[in-house]
Amino acid sequence: MALQLWETLKEAIVAYTGLSPATFFTLLALLVAIYHVISGLFGSSDNHQTPRNMEEMQPLAPPVQLGEITEDELKQYDGTDSKKPLLMAIKGQIYDVSQSRMFYGPGGPYALFAGKDASRALAKMSFEDKDLTGDISGLGPFELDALQDWEYKFMSKYVTVGTIKKAETDGEATGETTKAAEDIPSESSAVKSEETSTSAEAKQE
Ligand code: HEM
Repeated sequence: MALQLWETLKEAIVAYTGLSPATFFTLLALLVAIYHVISGLFGSSDNHQTPRNMEEMQPLAPPVQLGEITEDELKQYDGTDSKKPLLMAIKGQIYDVSQSRMFYGPGGPYALFAGKDASRALAKMSFEDKDLTGDISGLGPFELDALQDWEYKFMSKYVTVGTIKKAETDGEATGETTKAAEDIPSESSAVKSEETSTSAEAKQE
């Protein structure tokens, strides 16, 4: 019965297409393969929805606001504890990047940034240990531009959950500078106030 059907099919293929059954099936297989390659390249909306839906199926805890925390405290949010959110900072602003665990989670290509302020590394497009810091002093204009772009990307993609507390020594150093300026007797008060505002501006930068 099956053999008879096969014979009829072969005859129909020859009659309707003028091709031998072998050529016909080879062409058919090629067309299917080409279709898959092309739909994979341009991506039908269905293809894109599948992974997104899968991500949505694993519910993420809503971002928790942490306020001001130290760089040391930030380290515990590097993804090693899966119950904690995955955090990363740029210019002292901490972002919840839990939704991008594939990038920043353990084993991910950018796991080294997790739990850290990665400003310098991002500005310099560097993966070096020495650049895994929030210290952006001495960067050039292009690097600062690149960092700004990263910051915009993060601001639009992730929720800010806190800021990094400035190290105690920063405050002390500023205090000392101000005190030192006050100690100089020859300075007029006008110069003094100008200096104070300049140092405040410098600090803001
Ligand atoms: C050969 C070089 C590189 C390639 C091919 C590459 C490729 C990629 C790709 C395909 C993505 C995913 C983009 C998306 O879906 O939104 C990505 C994301 C990212 N890349 Fe790279 N990358 C490279 C180098 C770097 C370098 C040098 C850095 C920084 C030091 C970097 C930092 C990042 C970060 C932080 C993300 C994640 C952004 C997010 O959270 O959305 N990449 N990269």
